[in-house]
Amino acid sequence: MNQPNQDLIASDINAYLSQHENKSLLRFITCGSVDDGKSTLIGRLLYESKVLFEDQLDAVASDSKKWGTQGKEMDFALLVDGLAAEREQGITIDVAYRFFATDNRKFIVADTPGHEQYTRNMVTGASTCDAAVILCDARQGVLTQTKRHSYLLSLLGIRNVVLAVNKMDLMKYDESVYTEIVESYQEFAKEIGLDNVTPIPMSALCGDNILARSPEMPWYHGPTLLSYLETAEVNDEFRRNAPFRLPVQWVNRPNLDFRGFAGSIASGTVKPGDTVRVQPSGKTSTVARIVTHDGDLSEAIAGQSVTLTLEDEIDVSRGDIISTTEEPASTADQFESTIVWMHDEPMHAGRPYWLKIGTKTVSVTITDIKHEVNVNTLEQTAAKQLELNAIGVCNINTDQPIAFDTFDENQETGSFILIDRVGNHTVGAGMLHFALRRSENIHMQATDVNKARRAELKGQKPAVVWFTGLSGAGKSTVANIVEKKLAAAGHHTYLLDGDNVRHGLNKDLGFTDSDRVENIRRIGEVAGLMVDAGMIVLTAFISPFRSERALARSIVGEGEFIEVFVETPLAIAEERDPKGLYKKARRGELKNFTGIDSPYEPPENAEILVDTGTLSAEQAAERVIAEMRKRGLLEG
Ligand code: ADX
Repeated sequence: MNQPNQDLIASDINAYLSQHENKSLLRFITCGSVDDGKSTLIGRLLYESKVLFEDQLDAVASDSKKWGTQGKEMDFALLVDGLAAEREQGITIDVAYRFFATDNRKFIVADTPGHEQYTRNMVTGASTCDAAVILCDARQGVLTQTKRHSYLLSLLGIRNVVLAVNKMDLMKYDESVYTEIVESYQEFAKEIGLDNVTPIPMSALCGDNILARSPEMPWYHGPTLLSYLETAEVNDEFRRNAPFRLPVQWVNRPNLDFRGFAGSIASGTVKPGDTVRVQPSGKTSTVARIVTHDGDLSEAIAGQSVTLTLEDEIDVSRGDIISTTEEPASTADQFESTIVWMHDEPMHAGRPYWLKIGTKTVSVTITDIKHEVNVNTLEQTAAKQLELNAIGVCNINTDQPIAFDTFDENQETGSFILIDRVGNHTVGAGMLHFALRRSENIHMQATDVNKARRAELKGQKPAVVWFTGLSGAGKSTVANIVEKKLAAAGHHTYLLDGDNVRHGLNKDLGFTDSDRVENIRRIGEVAGLMVDAGMIVLTAFISPFRSERALARSIVGEGEFIEVFVETPLAIAEERDPKGLYKKARRGELKNFTGIDSPYEPPENAEILVDTGTLSAEQAAERVIAEMRKRGLLEG
């Protein structure tokens, strides 16, 4: 540990601790190609700073005793080896975070694997970073991976970027090598809009230009890596200077006299007396008090958790954004965005997901994948789905207006995550570019004759009976018998059948996952309209995905959706093979056949399960009718 710190610890431990507590914190990420020397660089930073990682040093010290060596250089080598080994073990899991400090600042460094298959890890690691160090091997120059990482950093809006031209010792500290790399990199950086790049020539192994200026490179006059990192502006400073935004986490109403809106300030500052606008409602008021656990404040800044009270009794709910009236947040429900897909199961246009932005979670549909960006070449290609680690520019549509800023304006209120609606896990991350104004003038029209009135005229309870199962399971056959029975009892019905609808409304769709998603999305909407018309709708589609079945369910009211799982073992369906399609699929003449080379996700909570392996079609139909009776959809 360095001397001034040791002295302070010895003389005044409290002063030392408080000095530490008050230091600013810089988060940064290191990236680069496989052999660019990331572990060596991180080892060097830890080694040079030597504050707050005594545990690691102790381990190294005892190791060096074991190895019978002592001395500074061996310690460093062991530290680096340890880091490299750790990295290899952890390579597939996630992001490794390490902590170190100098006399002036605390640091958290995120270390992520560099290969393309770890794009999502890098995005996760970088998303909270103030700065990035892109390593580049002086012998290799700018590689594809250097470019890919740079593109991701520009996408994530990282403000401080260092191009660390490493291993200069192996190029005899030659200035022209450095200049050539920097020039070629700067040209590329300009193309992708990365305009704040500081190049530094260094050798992590020898310690050149890391902490101290290198005597080997007198031609270099810029900062050393640590001096750059110690002075780079952290996001908190930017956030403080941005317009005021408080995403409301909860409404605090302990009694009738107090109504406060609590949350963590995303950006800007606020004082009592400031006028504020609540988005998306657009209502305005004035801040009365800023309440905290330690009493009222006269001012609060980004990063603080506070409760605001307002002068007026206006509606504010969780997920709203309270913002300054001078530059308020915007509201919209349709956007262009960039999405980074982070899940093995691809993203499909048309499929609904949860979108979480700040404290608000809404339902969202990807309406259009405008293009996918090839992260290596930056080429834009057409795409119907986004695979794991893919990046796409997409139009999205939320089911209600949300308060937001564009990502350029405000990273906190302009970025979101996407969550799977069935499994509840994060599947993607995104940045809002701008709002699409096309829906601005389209409003829901209330009609005087409504669902209840239409149903009453037909003397029935409208519902969807949704049959799902493999091809050949007997969905159409059973649905057909059910419809006959309902019609015989005087009900108004309509049977939507896969093979029929695919001749008309959905004749543009095939059998890729994306097309099936769109097929079922449309059927869900049509079934919803028919229920609104007062009908009893039966649908017979494979509908292989839980997500779209859940969407269809969400379109109609509670209790109006009966999911019928027509369960038949694949072997039986294949044996029946009424259209000869299984045989074709087995011969390889029919691609993407459900159950063969395309998935089927069986329902987990279907209202009714009928096994057509053991029941006759007639018996299965009877079961369905009985279930409808039981649920009060049919009388008697
Ligand atoms: S879904 O998966 O999108 O719900 P849908 O029920 O509309 O499928 O259509 C399935 C019907 O299309 C099957 O009953 C079968 O007759 C026919 N079909 C043709 N190709 C395929 C395929 N690759 N996979 C499944 N069904 C297919």
